[in-house]
Amino acid sequence: MAKNINLKKLISQMTLEEKVGQLIQLNGENFTKSASEITGPVQSWGISEEWLNKMGSTLNFPDANTMVKIQKKHLENDPHKIPMLFMMDVIHGYRTIFPIPLGLAASFDPALVYECSRMAAREASAGGVNVTFTPMVDYARDARWGRVMETAGEDPYLACVMGATQVRAFQGDDLSDKEHIAACVKHYAAYGGAEAGRDYNTVEVSERLLREDYLPAYKACIDAGVRMIMPSFNSLNGVPSIANKWLMRKVLKKEWKFDGVVISDYNAIGELKTHGIAPNMREAAKIAFENGCDIEMMSNGYYENLCSLVREGVIDEKDVDKAVYRVLKLKKELGLFDDPYRGASYEKEMALALCPEHRAIARRAACESAVLLKNDGVLPFSKDVKKIALIGPFADSNEIKGFWSCHGKDADCVTVLEGVRAAMPDAEISVANGCSPLWNEKSTEGFAEAVSMAKEADAVVLCLGEPQTYSGEGNSRADIRLPGMQEELAKAIIAANPNCAAVLFNGRPLALTGINNCPAILEMWFPGSEGGNAAADLLFGNAVPCGKLTMSFPKEVGQCPIYYNHPSTGRPKWTAEDVHQRYASNYIGCGNLPLYCFGHGLSYTKFEYEAMELSGTRISAEESLTVSIKVKNAGKYAAKETVQLYIRDIFASTVRPVQQLVAFEKIFLAPGEAKTVTFTVTEEMLRFYDADCKHVSEAGEFVIFTGYADHRYKEARFRLD
Ligand code: BGC
Repeated sequence: MAKNINLKKLISQMTLEEKVGQLIQLNGENFTKSASEITGPVQSWGISEEWLNKMGSTLNFPDANTMVKIQKKHLENDPHKIPMLFMMDVIHGYRTIFPIPLGLAASFDPALVYECSRMAAREASAGGVNVTFTPMVDYARDARWGRVMETAGEDPYLACVMGATQVRAFQGDDLSDKEHIAACVKHYAAYGGAEAGRDYNTVEVSERLLREDYLPAYKACIDAGVRMIMPSFNSLNGVPSIANKWLMRKVLKKEWKFDGVVISDYNAIGELKTHGIAPNMREAAKIAFENGCDIEMMSNGYYENLCSLVREGVIDEKDVDKAVYRVLKLKKELGLFDDPYRGASYEKEMALALCPEHRAIARRAACESAVLLKNDGVLPFSKDVKKIALIGPFADSNEIKGFWSCHGKDADCVTVLEGVRAAMPDAEISVANGCSPLWNEKSTEGFAEAVSMAKEADAVVLCLGEPQTYSGEGNSRADIRLPGMQEELAKAIIAANPNCAAVLFNGRPLALTGINNCPAILEMWFPGSEGGNAAADLLFGNAVPCGKLTMSFPKEVGQCPIYYNHPSTGRPKWTAEDVHQRYASNYIGCGNLPLYCFGHGLSYTKFEYEAMELSGTRISAEESLTVSIKVKNAGKYAAKETVQLYIRDIFASTVRPVQQLVAFEKIFLAPGEAKTVTFTVTEEMLRFYDADCKHVSEAGEFVIFTGYADHRYKEARFRLD
């Protein structure tokens, strides 16, 4: 019956205050207390019990029991029985944590991303979550920015694929299916362009570059049916996103015709005052509402001003009705009017959390996200080793789940020590921290013990990284080397025993020059609940690394931002023939090359790219081209390889990137096996934004190659007519 609820009729029966209540979102803790017990910023608003009962949505709450309690109380008090919406940041898992998004993107495996997001949706929906503030598709090029951990890295196409995949996985085909939840794409727009990688910083990006690199991933999520969008904190070309008419009105509403819900970021309407854009909260509320922001998260602009703005004739009540309609429509689509609890149950939540099936997905995801940066032949370690030394601050640390881990707990994470113990039950394992991972702790007291352990071992695993709180929101770094005395520790250990591999836990690309003489380096990112098991699987050859970098690792922090797809320059020149020319000069001492570039990632096996064949030499609007690439596993291990396809537009009316990824496919090959991967290249894939911001393709010659950034295995040319 409720399925057919007439929302317009319902809205016509609501008071203005009740309608405005639907447009305000407060933290969950405010609904588990009475108005007089409320603390924090909401306390200063002097909110009444009556208003609390009108609020239409909440974010951040601990579990299904709390959700049920809040919803029940709300329904008892709401004369219209409109259920509340419950939202959370389910970013890389709910209770079972899979790798941080930057790591998961390195799997280059949309099917795996889908599976991880499905698992997260299943757990989160049991816990009472209706909407997740995911995917985050901010395009990022600066490793100093702490939120690169939430991105898919420095390639706009990959961000589109990963973002749209997450939307489809979370939302499913039918949002009323109780194991699916709505997604909210964020942070619109260009939050990742923060100057100097400083979180929340100003962003100045031309419209051409915005349309070319920054905007496509938000649009891809909208095309995938995302129900909600969150404007970003930053100012974009002088105007904070939520106040930015061009962004909100022209692009989002007019061009893209987005008709879902717009929600502010946390206190972003309040911050219009701090930005110096609104003199007071009344003006801030007016600006945000007029720009299409439906729900205000955690500030008091709408709560204190929206009713009076309507009564004074500044805002048309019809526009309030439209915003309320969008919110209620989402509630209806989620089936909340039929079942306000949507099947949330503490028992189910607990049964799904970290269940063997979910742990298995998390373990596979952690294995497939890991990137083998370097291997001089020490990995995989022989299973015959008798004495293993695990050295470094992450050897026996469960602090490897990463920022934005929702309800994940450190205690749930398998450490490297636990993983290696399980993989090598007969080996003698010694452990030493060696030093602290904190940037300001400089003690070397633990070195002597660690060095003597390393000397006595048959194999040494150096477990290094950044504390979890060094990446994520608000956590930018000016120095992206391994913090504290870890480089010095690594030097001492490598000198003591060269049968040594470094395993890294971190939330961003690091400048690894200081440890690059280590015979092997395995990048694990923050791998989540099963991190230690995955590391052991990879170290001892039970799994073969297959991740590829989605963000370049600089040699020095001063190279940042450094990205593989930068525009070609006059000097140093970049020609279609010589990919390395662009690195000929500049940066005295370290040159322009990154240490490890986008697309790089080794395997234990050897892949041979045997042939690349094109179906023709010309493309037109009517006729596409197929590219077939034959890859053989010429090594001893069954393994996966991501076949990457890049193009280079040789001449165009605007400067084009020196190379850009246009397609990829991950394949599995048994030893000796060969497969042919076929891609279709269309005229549409060759379009770009010209100087007038028109999306065009221009006739001319293109280089197409397979390999990875700066490393062409096979290449050919074709023309666009
Ligand atoms: C973050 C968002 C997040 C929101 C709610 C903000 O501080 O920027 O990404 O979704 O908080 O937790």
